[in-house]
Amino acid sequence: MTPQRLYVNIDHVATVREARRTNEPDPLEAARLCEAAGADGITVHLREDRRHIQDADVERLAGAVRVLNLELATSPDVLAIACRLRPYQATIVPERREEVTTEGGLDLSRPAPRLRDTIRRLDEAGARVSLFIDPDLAVLDTAKDLGVPAIELHTGRYAHTWQRDGRALEELSRAARHAADMGLAVHAGHGLTYRNVTPVAAIPQIEELNIGHSIVSRAVMVGMRAAVEEMVHVVRGARR
Ligand code: PXP
Repeated sequence: MTPQRLYVNIDHVATVREARRTNEPDPLEAARLCEAAGADGITVHLREDRRHIQDADVERLAGAVRVLNLELATSPDVLAIACRLRPYQATIVPERREEVTTEGGLDLSRPAPRLRDTIRRLDEAGARVSLFIDPDLAVLDTAKDLGVPAIELHTGRYAHTWQRDGRALEELSRAARHAADMGLAVHAGHGLTYRNVTPVAAIPQIEELNIGHSIVSRAVMVGMRAAVEEMVHVVRGARR
């Protein structure tokens, strides 16, 4: 069995920065800490509304991190940036302006020409293309037909229901097996936390997990003591 890869999504480092539109915390500094801690890749989502990660962040990250997974919708301006910066991986996601976070997988019931064109252009730019989709066998078949090497299974339903019953986990396992049988690389993510990730990480066909909010949330907590101690030191030191 291949070891599971962890890609850390650092969007919410930028969310904190954008709350003040200042220059801290710096996503690049966070990315370096993630890599030093053992992350196999760094994921960012350049949204059409630029609510967290900005173009300049992607530019800096592309030149600095070992493995960049850029999430993007099919909007032309973001696609142009992706094609110019050629991230290692590009994960195509659906986007709705009013959503708090990516709410569902791509609708592949009638793959739009724009999606096909986005896949083709990213592929030509040398990015490994992945499609973020729901764990549905018919959707997986369409993803396979679209010719991508990888898919990311949306784990949102699992994240909402894992404490009630095991159905969503079973659905993920079945989808992961089906995708792997067709030769697709299987990734997964969304809503995974320190408490619910283990059963998903144990699914043998899943080779990459993308986790963001829970890690950034935990980072705030495990870093709070050191951060306050440093400021106490600075403030008290001022009158010495
Ligand atoms: N994978 C994809 C495609 C996403 O859009 C997101 C959220 O940006 C994640 C994984 C990570 O989700 P979370 O922040 O809930 O860990």
